Amino acid sequence: MEHEEIHLDFNFMMKEQLGDDSGLEPEDINYLSDKVELIHSDLVSKRVAGELPFFDLPYQDTAPIKALAEDLTATFDNLLLIGIGGSALGPLAIHNALHSPFYNQIVQHDKRHPRMYFLDNVDPDETACLLELLDLKKTVVVVITKSGTTAETMASFLVLREVIRKKSGKIDASQIIAITDPETGLLRKIAREEGYRTLDIPPGVGGRFSVLTPVGLLSAAVSGINIDDILTGAANMDKRCSNPNVWENPAYMKGTLEYLFHMRQGRNISVLMAYSEALGSIIEWYVQLWAESLGKKYGLDGRVVYTGQTPVKAIGATDQHSQLQLYIEGPHDKTITFLKVDKFENEINIPEDFTEMEGINYLSGHTLNELINAEQRATEVAIAKAGRPNCRIDIPSITPFTIGQLFYLFEVQTAFTGGLYKINPFDQPGVEEGKRLTFGMMGRKGFEEKKQEVESIQKNSLYTI
Ligand code: PA5
Repeated sequence: MEHEEIHLDFNFMMKEQLGDDSGLEPEDINYLSDKVELIHSDLVSKRVAGELPFFDLPYQDTAPIKALAEDLTATFDNLLLIGIGGSALGPLAIHNALHSPFYNQIVQHDKRHPRMYFLDNVDPDETACLLELLDLKKTVVVVITKSGTTAETMASFLVLREVIRKKSGKIDASQIIAITDPETGLLRKIAREEGYRTLDIPPGVGGRFSVLTPVGLLSAAVSGINIDDILTGAANMDKRCSNPNVWENPAYMKGTLEYLFHMRQGRNISVLMAYSEALGSIIEWYVQLWAESLGKKYGLDGRVVYTGQTPVKAIGATDQHSQLQLYIEGPHDKTITFLKVDKFENEINIPEDFTEMEGINYLSGHTLNELINAEQRATEVAIAKAGRPNCRIDIPSITPFTIGQLFYLFEVQTAFTGGLYKINPFDQPGVEEGKRLTFGMMGRKGFEEKKQEVESIQKNSLYTI
């Protein structure tokens, strides 16, 4: 299993195969080599100084996570995870990649692991349906928030806590797990006061870089996933991404290609298209990582840059019948990255039937596996023929080891590309401002000005039809 490495194939981004109009030449990449060297040494020195702790997550001690997971698995029928943004997308990405889409129905019968529910929004109808469905006496609530103050997460937590209190007449501390900063934030304070069990999000690891912390790993372990294999995969990718040579470092190469296509050809949309349903939530996780890390107004020197590519999710073959027309004939403003799975867990034969009908008999004797991968290959060629740059990440099979590689690859790629754009990929001032305006509107003390700001900007609704 350890030999199953993922690989980046970027032939259809280079002149030899994409053609003169859009294809890059090796010299275009080499032109950035001084910059790459500088960014590499900056990342390495920050890592050594402990300023970028996400780099070292593959080497953490997972014993406390596994011990807690074992206890929860033995005690509860359901796990409800509450979080938003990086505090929910990582756990969802792991769950949906490595479990059947019908996981809850399956474990309902075999009862070896709790059913898993994820609440990452404050939609009242969704919450009401969930509350109606869950037997809360048999449910553990895992609340995840790095800051310990996010309005949506804290509101859902309060709702759940109250329902538990009403049902059992008291707060049962053993039913609530808090994953948060080890020291700061209100969730930490509440957890201390009420005696919840907790796991730490290491300080310095931001939400969208936290999938390899207890944020992603606790629910994975509870559902029976081997979390050490995820980390071993990430460690494997760490080794490959520690190479300063861009031609041997998949994260640096991927970041360089996206950057060059954006800056030189105005390709400010980056599509990630998986030919696998299981990888859909990894794309959603990646969308946040790429958007929130690189979408910045200011450069490191304080100048206005308005940078970042817009990430877009697509799933093949489904979206061939939805988005592909645009990708092939629409504006030249995109790069496309395919995620291709070589070996699916299952193989399904297409029956030999209607052999006299030429329009469908060619399918006979093939498998769904062959069909989905033929569709992927055909799509990349069609896109390349239309002069559109695309690349492919080949994933031998979807396992904890390979998705660990994928997470780590994308995280290093994002940190590195922030260096190319000369922005800080680890902050999110835009999101923070949205959070402050919400606090103001909901009447949080100290944010009265923010409420006035919203009211003064939205004075009248003049243009409603
Ligand atoms: O990447 C980030 O920092 C954000 O997307 C956060 O994950 C998100 O805003 C939730 O924040 P918190 O974990 O503090 O509740």
